[in-house]
Amino acid sequence: MQTQFANAVTQKENGTRLGGSILRAGGLVAFPTETVYGLGANGLDGEAVRRIFEAKGRPSDNPLILHVAKKNDVKQLWPRIPPIARTLMDAFWPGPLTLIFNRSSIVPDEVTAGLDTVAVRMPDNKTALALIREAGVPVAAPSANSSGKPSPTAAEHVREDLEGKIDLIIDGGPCRFGLESTVLSLVGAPTILRPGAVTKEMLEAIIGPVALASSILSPLKEGERAASPGMKYRHYAPEAEVLVGEGVPRQAANRIARAYDAAEAEGKRCMIFATEQTRAFYTGRQYVIIGDREDPATLCRNLFAKLREYSEKADVIFAESLPEQGEGLAYMNRLLRAAGFHTLS
Ligand code: TXA
Ligand code: MG
Repeated sequence: MQTQFANAVTQKENGTRLGGSILRAGGLVAFPTETVYGLGANGLDGEAVRRIFEAKGRPSDNPLILHVAKKNDVKQLWPRIPPIARTLMDAFWPGPLTLIFNRSSIVPDEVTAGLDTVAVRMPDNKTALALIREAGVPVAAPSANSSGKPSPTAAEHVREDLEGKIDLIIDGGPCRFGLESTVLSLVGAPTILRPGAVTKEMLEAIIGPVALASSILSPLKEGERAASPGMKYRHYAPEAEVLVGEGVPRQAANRIARAYDAAEAEGKRCMIFATEQTRAFYTGRQYVIIGDREDPATLCRNLFAKLREYSEKADVIFAESLPEQGEGLAYMNRLLRAAGFHTLS
């Protein structure tokens, strides 16, 4: 789809102005957020939103998140704001928490993929907020990757996937969190559909018990309906095979080292995503340190970038499991999907 704007990569200082005018004219703008880069379009313009699906090659039954610049902007998108949503917005917005509730009629079907609910979030990134303000409308934005690739955590990743297919990329440097936002449904009992940096524990400290959708750490069963359409798809899939070493650090590292040696003997190019705590187990093998197990946020920040980097340089990537608490849950959700749930145990 052509618009009148040439493709360009721009620094954030002058990019938000231009970006706002492109969005108003129905074009596509990639922009930084605190989680991953988003691919934005005017969220009230069904035609503009359809271009997002074309550029990404995204299945049209997978709904998008609307991004707002202030809490009150939610009023036009939901017929009412339940008290629990107010509480959560006050606690976590701007920030990596997406809230799902019934939609109002102003929201186009293209955004919700025909569902009667809509996802909304207010990102914690100055460039993103400035762009949304310039656009003057809610901005529909999935992650700015080609469908099936890991989400982009730097402008360079967006360029790799989408250059020539979109109107503008605003470069805001690397993303602070590196995994997409927590998605929480408030239709019925509060349920996490996708874990993120706003953890189950953080939510429960404010609103009490929160449920987890069943498919967060295991594949959907035959015939099971996805709570979130996005979970049906093999997201975050790199070219290389990914294998997850399960168990406590020493066990995981031993399993990885053994499987590495076997794969190498078959002539496969191997890479280990090691941690500060386990590097010593991998001596003599190819590894890269992706973070500190004591601080899961470091692993979350690096996972997608490293999957991209080694997806073609290696045939097999080995990574350690983390305890599924706090941000470890988001990490394991993405890692297990990248691995197609293949584990070493
Ligand atoms: O951090 C993020 O959330 C990033 C940045 C750009 O904001 N965006 C992002 O969007 O990750 P996307 O489209 O890649 O993921 C949105 C997820 C999908 O799994 C989708 O199925 C789910 O949210 N979703 C959106 N609307 C929904 C709805 N009404 N009901 C259930 N799931 C919904
Ligand atoms: Mg995505």
